[in-house]
Amino acid sequence: MDERIISSSEQKQDKTWDLTLRPQSLSDYIGQEQVKANLEIFLTAAKQRQESTDHILLFGPPGLGKTTLAHIIAKEMNVGIKITSGPTITKAGDLAALITNLQAGDILFIDEIHRLPKVIEEVLYPAMEDFALDIILGKGPQAQILRLDLPKFTIIGATTRYNLISSPLRDRFGATFRLDFYNQDELATIIKRSADILATKISEDAILELASRSRGTPRIANRILKRVRDYVQVKADGDISTALAHDALSLMAIDKYGLDDLDRRFLKVIIESYNGGPVGVNTIAAALQEEAGTIEEIIEPYLMQLGLLARTSQGRIVTDKAYQYLNLPLPENNKLF
Ligand code: ADE
Repeated sequence: MDERIISSSEQKQDKTWDLTLRPQSLSDYIGQEQVKANLEIFLTAAKQRQESTDHILLFGPPGLGKTTLAHIIAKEMNVGIKITSGPTITKAGDLAALITNLQAGDILFIDEIHRLPKVIEEVLYPAMEDFALDIILGKGPQAQILRLDLPKFTIIGATTRYNLISSPLRDRFGATFRLDFYNQDELATIIKRSADILATKISEDAILELASRSRGTPRIANRILKRVRDYVQVKADGDISTALAHDALSLMAIDKYGLDDLDRRFLKVIIESYNGGPVGVNTIAAALQEEAGTIEEIIEPYLMQLGLLARTSQGRIVTDKAYQYLNLPLPENNKLF
């Protein structure tokens, strides 16, 4: 498991943490203003019609609050929610068991829905469209299809990899919302809210310091806050000053852009071994001994957001800004950026 402090993947330490810090309603949820405004209308309209909501697809980089939003939607709609994930559903029977246990109006949250096996996807289509499950009884010419009617329910799918979702599956979602990285102000507000909940005193400047190093990701902001709180508790009196926040973050080797050693190695491989690119992600992955999926999902989105990296049809290219960031001289032939 990836235990980088700035990994946006969920880690064991986040679970209990999340439960206390997770916003419980749309009004508590900071940022993603456009998503919230659209969801508000979508949910209110369904409530007014006394209907369950259409199926919803949430996508965006890890750690931005897709699961949190699903819980909030369930709360706002006053319905139950069951949580599962694409790779854990391996047999049609697994899905049937989940869906037949739902009450009318309930939500089934499928995390990492892009990892749902193809055969399961095909069982899901009629379930989403007609609220029916086709169960095949027997084998060969004697086989019979038994159609099981289901209560009306809502699927909320979440994915970090929108382009890996097949178009028939995409088409079955009535609404799709994209979550984006949070800006500094939003992260600062989230850190302040979390520090209040944890009864930790933190200076305004220290909040900004943490916000700028959180990779636009609340999960990382909350994790860093917790680590800095530990540091300050051990080294000082427990209040987080700017200087102490700075020391704690340096100890974690997170720089002022929120990048760590793996990000820097990633950029350096492209520059030093591939002349700045273009180079394919699989080649970089092999050089770094990381999985290509991890690189695409966790490392690249934020480097692109910072303008240090570009994805082209020929492969990955680092920008001039990446050379500046690493204090390396620009190559002579670099005319692209
Ligand atoms: N904690 C984690 N994500 C949050 C968000 N978007 N708003 C408020 N608190 C959060």
